[in-house]
Amino acid sequence: MQKLKINKLYVMDCFKFLKLVDDNSVDLVIIDPPYNMKKDKWDRFKSTEDFFKFTYSYLDMLVPKIKITGSFYIFNSPFNCAFILKYLLDKGLIFQNWITWDKRDGFSAAKRKYTNAQETILFFTKSKKYTFNVDDIRIPYESEKRIEHAKKIGIIKNGKRWFPNPKGKLCTDVWHFSSERHKNKINGKTPKLPHTTPKPVDLVERIIKASSNPGDLVLDCFVGIGTTAIAAKKLGRNFIGCDINKEFIKIANQRLKNI
Ligand SMILES: C[S@@+](CC[C@H](N)C(=O)[O-])C[C@H]1O[C@@H](n2cnc3c(N)ncnc32)[C@H](O)[C@@H]1O
Repeated sequence: MQKLKINKLYVMDCFKFLKLVDDNSVDLVIIDPPYNMKKDKWDRFKSTEDFFKFTYSYLDMLVPKIKITGSFYIFNSPFNCAFILKYLLDKGLIFQNWITWDKRDGFSAAKRKYTNAQETILFFTKSKKYTFNVDDIRIPYESEKRIEHAKKIGIIKNGKRWFPNPKGKLCTDVWHFSSERHKNKINGKTPKLPHTTPKPVDLVERIIKASSNPGDLVLDCFVGIGTTAIAAKKLGRNFIGCDINKEFIKIANQRLKNI
């Protein structure tokens, strides 16, 4: 990377920042951009058309930055993801998963439809040759008793004897992580957090463990208070990132220092 320092977060607009990132230089992109849900100043757009114009513009700039062996994850609402999925398919990315994040917390109560309690994470790769460390994200089995029995003699599945993996079961595309809002509730109320929509570090760690290796470069051009950078640093990956808001970058740098 010639024009940017690795392991540094920039106070910068994503479009300016992405111009400085070399093409084919990033192993993993994880972005949590605006959703157009009016959650904060940075999440307000004049119209849905304006929101998608903004979204498609940064996607156009991001895709060439990913290495041919690289992966791409984007958070958004299920509604917006339906459009983003089509857009990225048309740009030639390979769709891998529609991950449903069960936030253990609702957006807001609905009386005329089901209350929304999920967000979507789309997972794409640039080619069929990509990192996926399936064993690093295995999940402990729920029933220890059943596993104890199966460990000894196995279980017959589809005519074959199956033994449980000591590292746990395979990770599915439905993820259960409490939102930061939910985790920080006191007597049912959320105190004011330093950011309106921070993502859980443990959730982002799962993405980084699965789709990168130590020493790889992870990019996030909407870092907020630095969740992706923190998870990358904890796991021995390199990062680059930016946010347009200097207060958020200040908090992100403080959090990074504490690791
Ligand atoms: C959903 S939040 C990201 C939260 C982050 N994942 C975290 O855990 O802290 C989206 C972020 O995008 C930033 N943002 C909005 N428009 C931007 C732009 N044009 N360039 C760079 N950052 C922008 C906002 O300041 C906000 O912090």
